[in-house]
Amino acid sequence: MKAVAPRLLDWQREHGRNDLPWQHPRSAYRVWLSEIMLQQTQVATVIPYFQRFVEALPDLSALASASEDEVLALWSGLGYYRRARFLHAAAKQAAALHGGELPADFDALLALPGIGRSTAGAILAQAYGLPYPIMDGNVKRVLARYHGIIGYPGLGPIEKQLWLHAEQHMPRSETARYTQAIMDLGAMVCRRSQPDCPACPLQSDCVAYRDGLTDSLPSPRPAKTLPTRQTVMMVIRDHHHRYLLERRPVDGIWPGLWSLPEASDPGAAWQVAGRYARLDDALALDSFDHIFSHYRLRIEPLLFAGVRAIPAVAEHSQHRWYPHDELLRLGLPAPVRQLLQRCKDLTP
Ligand code: ADE
Ligand code: SF4
Repeated sequence: MKAVAPRLLDWQREHGRNDLPWQHPRSAYRVWLSEIMLQQTQVATVIPYFQRFVEALPDLSALASASEDEVLALWSGLGYYRRARFLHAAAKQAAALHGGELPADFDALLALPGIGRSTAGAILAQAYGLPYPIMDGNVKRVLARYHGIIGYPGLGPIEKQLWLHAEQHMPRSETARYTQAIMDLGAMVCRRSQPDCPACPLQSDCVAYRDGLTDSLPSPRPAKTLPTRQTVMMVIRDHHHRYLLERRPVDGIWPGLWSLPEASDPGAAWQVAGRYARLDDALALDSFDHIFSHYRLRIEPLLFAGVRAIPAVAEHSQHRWYPHDELLRLGLPAPVRQLLQRCKDLTP
């Protein structure tokens, strides 16, 4: 079996992208600019911005002596303007420290604003022919699948493994083409969804392909554990089979929607329900969870069925009795709607 690099190089010559504007000519300045632009933006979007930028500011010295207004105007539309400010600051520093071009030295590059390990690697490999790997989303996906690395790539130990593999595969020559090859493979063949494994030069010994793991690798970010809040939701049904709803306040969750009355515990729920109906008995239903972006709501439903409504509940207040068929036409929060569906045929 051929090593990874020769296979990727052969594939790239034939199928990769070889007419990107930052490849012709390939100066450190142009590679750097393209890498920064490509950090949050797709290739097709970047190309015209890149061309406009290098036409106005063709080299490091030009960028270093440009005004901040000019740099931001050239960046305008790309977003994430912090990138442009760092770029400008780094150009000034590099011009002062290193003269007219970026240094061909890993530590010196890393010391510049906005240049991390991956951007430094991209510059060294693509402009200076030095064997430093890069690590963007495409590279992470290819390596995680090819080596069958299980675990979220954003985690320190996983990322460390990925860097080790990246370094081991990095060839000593043709470092520019190799760098482009692994990114092109990730973008064009080893796509996030529906990778084209039959067209891939790594297929014969790819672990994800062999084990049917292409859909599950790279592993997704682990779900964060949300704090849990609890609420007792009262389903109060009178003997005409009408349900008592309460309109939510306009601030907080479900603003202005009709919902069920709530209380912090069953004792408080009896008190609240007792304001609207003469109660007899209550049935605790199975609790269930509803997930919000910032917390998990554990809902403990309490059904008061066959109650007699206390007529003092004024219409136009925040409370109203609704027959079941009218309920489902209201804008109800999803878990409330589900709960009311569940209660429809329930007779304690
Ligand atoms: N993303 C980062 N660098 C890239 C490059 N040189 N080509 C395509 N996508 C990239
Ligand atoms: Fe990606 Fe499939 Fe190639 Fe493996 S064989 S590297 S999963 S495209």
